[in-house]
Amino acid sequence: MRAGAGLPRFGAVHVAIAGAHGKVARLLTRLLTERGDEVTGLVRDPGHVADVTADGARAVVVDLEAAGAAEVAGAVRGADAVVFAAGAGPGSGAARKDTVDRAAAVLLADAAELAGVRGYLLVSSFGVDAVRGGATPEGVDEVFVAYLRAKLAAEEELLARAASGRLHVTVLRPGGLTDEPPTGRVHLERSVERGSVPRADVAAVCVELLDAAASVPVGGRLLELVGGEEPAGDAVARVAAHDGGAAG
Ligand SMILES: NC(=O)c1ccc[n+]([C@@H]2O[C@H](COP(=O)([O-])OP(=O)(O)OC[C@H]3O[C@@H](n4cnc5c(N)ncnc54)[C@H](OP(=O)(O)O)[C@@H]3O)[C@@H](O)[C@H]2O)c1
Repeated sequence: MRAGAGLPRFGAVHVAIAGAHGKVARLLTRLLTERGDEVTGLVRDPGHVADVTADGARAVVVDLEAAGAAEVAGAVRGADAVVFAAGAGPGSGAARKDTVDRAAAVLLADAAELAGVRGYLLVSSFGVDAVRGGATPEGVDEVFVAYLRAKLAAEEELLARAASGRLHVTVLRPGGLTDEPPTGRVHLERSVERGSVPRADVAAVCVELLDAAASVPVGGRLLELVGGEEPAGDAVARVAAHDGGAAG
């Protein structure tokens, strides 16, 4: 068992991370590899292989807007879980919100199923409920609306697969991401007030959620995250206990 963790944990895990050169992804990779877990990092740019390898991962170059499911399945085969931490990023337009934030997340699910990987952790975003049912929130930039729509569509597709038992899905909706140092303390609930959270704390919560994968209910787990007062491990342990599953 890992000292200080909220839940018992047995053995190393193998996690495949899409968007492995992203800021959250690199923090997550280092947390996992430093404790002895295996990480496969999917990157689009061959120039990012050295950084991701230095983080301790096995890097695989795959463009999630160009690859097919079989190619991505080959990259994630053997993993216990996949994490989608990719994103089209701040400089991109509405079209890439759809091709990355929605379609690449769904492609990763297709690949996981093909490869027999059951666990899927989606880094989504706070605020997606504002576009549910085709709603257009007032005063919001149209590219951001496209981003929220893409994230919501990815969530809905993944949770549908969770409901039919095809994947064990955890959706994490962080608030505004900052590059502040980690606090180790979070507010993690099904619904939280708008706020921000350091990427390092998002990464720490992802580790705990991966460890708690056995307690994900059929139909999936959906959580919002901002900075708070509760240690990350305790927060995830509380959620897992509430869901009533076996921890580990
Ligand atoms: N910014 C916020 O406040 C906020 C809030 C809530 C949630 N989020 C979400 O949190 C997640 C992590 O955010 P972050 O800031 O850590 O992300 P990030 O640093 O922008 O990293 C995103 C990664 O996705 C990769 N990517 C883009 N297109 C790709 C493709 N076609 N194939 C493979 N990889 C591709 C990028 O690679 P390249 O470098 O090659 O482009 C990049 O490494 C994202 O999903 C983001 O939408 C962000």
